[in-house]
Amino acid sequence: MTKLTPVQQRSLEKAARAAAKNSYSPYSQFPVGAAVLTHSGKIFAGTNVENASFGLCNCAERTAIFSAVAAGERRLRCVVVYTPTETATTPCGACRQVINEFGPDARVISICDSKDRIETLLSALLPGAFGPENLS
Ligand code: THU
Repeated sequence: MTKLTPVQQRSLEKAARAAAKNSYSPYSQFPVGAAVLTHSGKIFAGTNVENASFGLCNCAERTAIFSAVAAGERRLRCVVVYTPTETATTPCGACRQVINEFGPDARVISICDSKDRIETLLSALLPGAFGPENLS
């Protein structure tokens, strides 16, 4: 998997930070923003959307990925997640599983309000993943 260009990386990070501003997180007070880059070069952003029925909360990463899929984009190159924290936060387990569905080789970048960042691969965050190929 080739590295992103600096422009792609900056655009993704900007989109993830901007998306967090639309977070609907009255219960956790933990706004999250995410942005995904597809293989065709498009960027889709998403934020976490919570619900009074807590189990229905949707993470920022999944919102962004579902937007990409709804637009016909099914191959993810990179996922960026932004949290307004001092240390970077990697995607939760459910989001790792959803990233695997559309981007098993995707790069995953976590950014926050300090210089701290985590740059890794989905395959490192979810080794031995269960995926579509296991159903055939
Ligand atoms: N959250 C995300 O949006 N992404 C993650 O990877 C971790 C958690 C959201 C879900 C919930 O709205 C809030 O953060 C607190 O868990």
